[in-house]
Amino acid sequence: MSEKIIDHKMIINGDYVNSVSNQKIGIECPANKQLFATVPRGIKEDVDIAVKSSLIAFQSWSKVNPKERGKILLDIANDIDDQKEEIAKIIAKETGNAIRTQARPEINLVVDIFRYFGGLSSELKGETIPLGEHVLSYTRREPLGVVGAIIPWNAPVMLAACKIAPSLCTGNTLVMKAAEDAPLAVLKVAEICQKHIPPGVFNLITGTGSECGEPLAYHPDISKLSFTGSTAVGKLIMRAAAERVLPVSLELGGKSPSIVYPDVNEDWTVDGIIGAMRFTRQSQSCTAGSRLFLHKRIFDSFIEQLANKLDKLIIGDPLDDKTDMGTIINNKQYTKVCDYIKDGLDNKETEIICGGLPPKEGPLSEGYFTIPTIFRNKSNEWRLAKEEIFGPVLVAIPWEDENEVIKMANQSHYGLAAYVWTRDITRGINAAHAIESGWVQVNQGLGQVPGHSYGGYKQSGLGREFSLEGMLDSFTQRKNISINLNTPAKEL
Ligand code: NAI
Ligand code: MG
Repeated sequence: MSEKIIDHKMIINGDYVNSVSNQKIGIECPANKQLFATVPRGIKEDVDIAVKSSLIAFQSWSKVNPKERGKILLDIANDIDDQKEEIAKIIAKETGNAIRTQARPEINLVVDIFRYFGGLSSELKGETIPLGEHVLSYTRREPLGVVGAIIPWNAPVMLAACKIAPSLCTGNTLVMKAAEDAPLAVLKVAEICQKHIPPGVFNLITGTGSECGEPLAYHPDISKLSFTGSTAVGKLIMRAAAERVLPVSLELGGKSPSIVYPDVNEDWTVDGIIGAMRFTRQSQSCTAGSRLFLHKRIFDSFIEQLANKLDKLIIGDPLDDKTDMGTIINNKQYTKVCDYIKDGLDNKETEIICGGLPPKEGPLSEGYFTIPTIFRNKSNEWRLAKEEIFGPVLVAIPWEDENEVIKMANQSHYGLAAYVWTRDITRGINAAHAIESGWVQVNQGLGQVPGHSYGGYKQSGLGREFSLEGMLDSFTQRKNISINLNTPAKEL
């Protein structure tokens, strides 16, 4: 039985509006492939109206006392906190991420993010420069103007919060485009924000990448671009930024290594690997530890325990509290993940350890469900070991020589995250320093918290957003003011 389809509006200048195109995008629940909502299919004209209102709002928002802006963020955090179960359910329904393992932790982190940045508004400090007694030279941290933000669907509200909170804290205004696959929970958070901020300070628009994202990226009145998503689109955003010499922050893809040394407690580390690979988010995470380098001596026993534990994960209805693992976001991504699995199955060099193609019958065939899959391969030089799959497909590679494994770990154009597992802390630290990644964890697989300067090396990104330093670097510009104190008095 199909349910009632709820028609949502986007938020421009404090108003809930349709697109001037009057077109809609249907939102499908990936667990049952049913359409359950629509959002406006925004186009260039909507972007123009939104940016204009944010430009006007900037005049007064940038002058609001920072302490007051911080208080507003704290009030928003409390409001989200009060409604977090409802928002978690929306996340689970539109993304297919399981409510217990993903959607609730995501919204809890969103509350933390608003609280963290709410507490930082007094930290927008400048410096004084010691140029001698005759001059007062100091800097101010000024906002940039209207931020254009584009976000993906994999952790939509968390990634939105990472851009909303620092933008508003620093006195910028913001036009954000939600991902066409998961706009509803972000819309809910944007609605909560509207109760606390003047119209136009934060506009939330919906639409596709080419029709709505691109006009936002190229809009002449945008002063900064902040993007999270694929490396391919990230390059387009950077090109758009180059047109007008705009600052840009990019949080892009990854193919992160997990290196397991032979001295680990295997049972405990297996749990860590499951966390690092983000299996309970169907591995739709840019930081997924998707290349598992296992020492030869423990390879067989470790991989067997890993496969056994993965087999016990409960895959099913994202809204059921018992579920560990939900669905892939949409048909396009599902097909992409299945194509990688087929490629693995066809490759003669490769051995499948567990998983494989998803079932064609039964309850899991009703949605975009996939099953945890591991391939064993001799080398790192293989499509499945090089490309971001964004699905629960782990490539396990044996290693023996430490220098060799670090070299393999670094053989990637990505450099977002990495995981090192050893009881020998000296080894762990040396490996962490040798790995070319923006975030290396030793003996832990999860643990992203506000305050951590999160971001990528190489083609995994540019700039940092998740910390005080990230906020100052990415959302403010320094102005230097020099005053000559040696001016002679007017002769009377
Ligand atoms: P995508 O990069 O196309 O989408 C991300 C956002 O960018 C969406 O809001 C989309 O509407 C927008 N966008 C797309 N084309 C645009 C354009 N030309 N101009 C402006 N905005 C544009 O990612 P997609 O297609 O959803 O996923 C494809 C692959 O990207 C995944 O398989 C995964 O490998 C990677 N990805 C990485 C993410 C990360 O967190 N680093 C998040 C999502 C996807
Ligand atoms: Mg969908």
